[in-house]
Formats: sequence, structure tokens, C-alpha cells
Amino acid sequence: MKVLFVTPECAPMVKTGGLGDVSAALPRALAALGHDVALLMPAYGDMVISGQIVGLFAVAPHGAWPAAQLLKLRQEDGFILYLLSCPQLYARAGTPYGASNGQDHDDNALRFGLLSRVAAMMGTQATPCGWQADIVHANDWPTGLAPFYLAQARSAAGAAPVARSLITVHNLAFQGIFPMHACDVLDIPTEDRGMEGVEFWGGISMLKAGLNFADAITTVSPTYAREIQGAELGFGLDGVLRGRASVLRGILNGIDTVVWNPADDPLIAAPYSVDSPSGKALNKTALRQRCGLDAAENRMLFGLVGRLTHQKGVDLVAQGAERLVEQGAQLVVLGNGDAAMQARFTDLSARYPEHISVTLGFDESLAHQIEAGADCFLMPSRFEPCGLNQMYSQIYGTPPIVTHTGGLADSVVDADSPQPGGTGFVMQAPTQEMFDHAVQRALAAWKSPVAWESLQRAGMRQTFGWDASAMAYSDLYGELLAN
Ligand code: ADP
Ligand code: GLC
Repeated sequence: MKVLFVTPECAPMVKTGGLGDVSAALPRALAALGHDVALLMPAYGDMVISGQIVGLFAVAPHGAWPAAQLLKLRQEDGFILYLLSCPQLYARAGTPYGASNGQDHDDNALRFGLLSRVAAMMGTQATPCGWQADIVHANDWPTGLAPFYLAQARSAAGAAPVARSLITVHNLAFQGIFPMHACDVLDIPTEDRGMEGVEFWGGISMLKAGLNFADAITTVSPTYAREIQGAELGFGLDGVLRGRASVLRGILNGIDTVVWNPADDPLIAAPYSVDSPSGKALNKTALRQRCGLDAAENRMLFGLVGRLTHQKGVDLVAQGAERLVEQGAQLVVLGNGDAAMQARFTDLSARYPEHISVTLGFDESLAHQIEAGADCFLMPSRFEPCGLNQMYSQIYGTPPIVTHTGGLADSVVDADSPQPGGTGFVMQAPTQEMFDHAVQRALAAWKSPVAWESLQRAGMRQTFGWDASAMAYSDLYGELLAN
């Protein structure tokens, strides 16, 4: 099958979160199954690109959209990447979505409308590059209009083949909402501007467009697929999702087991594995040294890497941090996000410089060092579509504390569960009381080397690779083409 995977971000070129990791790994895992897979994303301003340009194609201007170019690159491993170049729209500093201060670009409708439109074109005979996809796999709101444009193309195409579409929801909280008049520049006809189309509370939602018009919908864990059909985590789209339940399924993300492998990770101080675990202690020493933390042997070290936002429940960590230090433990935090939350963590590290270290910013190597050097990983998310860090931490022998939600519920087994093979500590809900209790349980378990090592070993033996998930996507593509 010819599969086009369209995404706003892909590691290591551009990454703001888990979607970047998934975009780097899943398309390659699908290619390894024998499919002809290509990835499409914008050519952003400060992106570091590798590979060889093997094609250059013009994309004609259309309505409000300027002329663009499609660069075809062959990566070192043979993987094909299409970069959508339109400097006027994409060559800017900041993240894919906005300025470095978090402010969204004010022409995002046009920017991601073009990405979606070109993805859809690549699924039709009007493809600009001579390669026509059988499946267009969209990801999150920035690509949400691709299924819509494909549906339009299908009704205009007569007997000509048009790709089937799939949208994966990585986070329902981000919906790509714009004023209704954006429909004019986005080429959305009047009859599709209503509730059955792209309308959302008087404006438009690019994600809703994807959910309404895609041939299939997936999300990144089975539990989240159920949760988003309810009012609590449905973010106003639960009704739409319930209406499409027959084409909605959850497929748990995998992790890149080459990049995230403590036995062979160039970013950490010492290699280790389940059969040869002694290097883990050296990583703890190195991490505390790097972060300027007191090196006393009997202090348990908690780690956190992630966006400092309400979703991630990091306020529970900030609130519990003082108690944690009073009980002789330490905390190392890496993240960026809400200004108030950043300030709260900075203040904690100023008050307890020997026991709390906070690094604001995005730092790939420190992220690996925390996974390797911490004793226990903190991820008390309020909701979590899948989550990758809890998987990394299990593989790195760093049992996580997580909430029973989304992909966290699907990938961590509680230490005290009747089911054998516990790998972490699961809080039933994201409350302060439950967080503090989980920390107590972790502290107690850590004091018993036998209990702790068994948690570590069970986690390190988990297989979170992409094989099973890629197979599930491949089966789904097959079903879409058979229908
Ligand atoms: P989300 O996509 O919701 O942010 P995930 O757990 O799926 O959460 O993925 C987050 C990814 O981004 C992980 O690979 C994590 O290591 C990485 N990450 C998050 N914040 C930082 C940071 N400040 N520095 C380095 N890596 C980070
Ligand atoms: C999102 C979610 C996260 C998920 C990631 C990759 O950013 O918040 O839970 O792991 O996408 O699918």
C-alpha cells in the first residue's frame, strides 16, 4: 500500500512532544512491513534536514495560498520525506505552531490548511509529485482538513481513484479552532460550514473536520479511545466521536527502542541492562552531579520530564515537593510550559538547591539522563492520550508513578495489583492525596531492594516497540481499502 503520513512535527528535525517521536518511528515501522510510505511536513525556518534532495515539484498558488514547492528527500535509511516549502508561511522562528513565547501564529489556518490541502492532493490524480497515495494518514488538528479535502475530491472525482483517509488523535485538547470566516481562505463551501461539517461553537474546528470526514479515526491508546467518548475527556467533541464510534479505535503507541535503549544510549553516563544493571547507579551519580544535587546514598531521586501544564498534573508534584524533600528524597525536573508553573518550580529549586533541580527548556540529552539516573519517574497526568515517558522510564529501570488514565492505564501495572509483574505505581485519580500516597508507596518500596528490583526488572522486560502497533495500523489500512 502507498501510505502518506502527514504531520506538523517529526523528530529529530522538529519536536515539541510525543507526536514528533511517533512521526519519526511509526512511518518507518510501516515501511519495514513492506509498505511504500512517505512523510509530508512543512519546511520550517530553523529545521535541520538531512538526506538528499531527489525531486522538486511545484504546487500552484490557489486562492489565498501562495505558490509552494514540494521537496522530495531520500533520508540515509532510504525513507522518503516530502517537505512542503512555502517560506512566506513556514520559514519562521519558534515552534511549528507559534512564537517561542507560546503565542500561536495568526495565520495558522492558512499554514495548516495548505499542509492539509497538499496532503489531500497527494491522494488524488492531481498529486504534484507523480506519486499518489492509497492512504492519507493525518495526525491531529494541523492536518485535520486533509480528510475533508479528500472527501471533496472523492465527490468530484467520479471513477478516478482517491485515497482513503485516517486521522489519529494524539490529543483531543488541541482542536485547531478559527473564526468562521477562515472558511473563505480555506476553500470550504457553504454547505460544509454547518454542524455536520466543520462548525464548532460558531467557529470552525480543523480537528472536528478530520473527525467528521475521515474514513477511520484512531487514537493512541485503547483507554483514551473510550474516554474521549464521554463528556469528561471529550472536550466538546464526545458527541461527534460517539457518532463515529464504529470507525474509532485505540492503538497504543510504541517507542523507538533504538533511541531509547539504556544498553546503548550515547546520551547517558553508563550503559546498563536488565542482565547487567550496575551502570544505573553511575547514571544517578552523574545526574546529581550535573544538577548540583547532594550525593548522599540514602536519598531517593524522583524525576520528571515533560510539558509543565495542567494536563500533566505537575502542580501536584510542585505541591508535594516540599514533603518529598522533608522525607529525605530529591527531585529533578526538566520541562517548559505555563509561566506560573515554571516560576513555581524555579522557586522550589531556589529554596532547596541541594535537593531540587529544575531545568526550564527542551533538552534531549538531559531527558535521557533523567530517565536513566532517577530512581522513580513522575507522571501524574490529569489525562494522557498515550504518553511516552512512562514507557521510556520502565525500559530504563525507573518505575513510574502515573494516573489511571489513557495510555498510562494501558502501559503501567501497579506494584500492588493482584496481577503479577507490577512495573510502577498507579493513582486512581489525579488528586493531591493520591499523589502523596503514591510517593509514600514508592519511598517504602525503594527501601526494600528486593521489591524495588523486581519492579525495575519487570519494567525493563516490557516490549514497547512499534511492531505490534504498526501491524494494527497496517490491518486498518487494509480494511479501508477493502471497503
Ligand atoms: P506529550 O506529547 O503530551 O508532550 P509524551 O509523553 O507523549 O507527551 O511525549 C513527550 C516527549 O517529549 C517525550 O519524548 C519527552 O521526553 C519529550 N519532552 C518533553 N518535554 C521535554 C523537555 N523539556 N526536554 C526534552 N524532552 C522533552
Ligand atoms: C500527545 C499526547 C501524548 C501522546 C503523544 C503521541 O501529545 O499528549 O499522550 O503520547 O501525543 O501520540
